[in-house]
Amino acid sequence: MAFVVTVDGPSGAGKGTLCQRLAQSLGFHLLDSGALYRLTALAAEKQAADWGDEEALAQVAKNLAVRFEPSAGGVKVWLAGEDVTSAIRKEQVGMNASRVAACQPVRAALLQRQRSFAEEPGLVADGRDMGTTVFPDAPVKVFLTASAEERARRRVLQLQLAGETPDYEAILADIETRDRQDRERATSPLKPADDAVQLDSTHLGIEEVLAQVLALVQDSLSGSAAAR
Ligand code: DC
Repeated sequence: MAFVVTVDGPSGAGKGTLCQRLAQSLGFHLLDSGALYRLTALAAEKQAADWGDEEALAQVAKNLAVRFEPSAGGVKVWLAGEDVTSAIRKEQVGMNASRVAACQPVRAALLQRQRSFAEEPGLVADGRDMGTTVFPDAPVKVFLTASAEERARRRVLQLQLAGETPDYEAILADIETRDRQDRERATSPLKPADDAVQLDSTHLGIEEVLAQVLALVQDSLSGSAAAR
């Protein structure tokens, strides 16, 4: 299988930016697995699916007509021919994504699709269970965290830059709810793989985190070259 770097952690820890920069530096493919759960939530909403019917939600996940298109400003996401790049980032879609992500048949329906991203020359996989469930044999696993307060502060800044007037306390409460949902669910809960390197980005900038992860990748790549 292609070389895989997994990056798991709670929302807002900086995984998205880190993974984009990593994929760029290494020339690897990028899997934003959260986008698949967000797309499932958005498609379920559009189809007025029954949120209590796990099999119906799994069918939505299985039949996602999705296309990821690398572009200058990041990756564009298309659902059934519609550009949903910003629609899937809305808070409500995030909350619904967390709900569908707790549903085992949905997770099973998305498993092969996620694994199919592991192509040469390599993959950077961003999510919650990349190192534990989707790519358990990945040679480099990172678990990236930051305090809930710092993650809320970053989200507020991001929304302000987008011209919105976010409420810090509401954002913090949302982050804490979503953390709890992701950590406490029965299937593939958010937790570090036993062999993951844990990094806390509360007081670290993106460049420092990127340098540490690139060093882990280089070590692993030179180790596997030496073993050959
Ligand atoms: O990373 P994100 O905020 O885009 O993820 C959206 C939701 O999907 C989040 O609540 C957790 C869930 N998710 C998951 O359960 N497993 C993944 N591998 C990725 C995301």
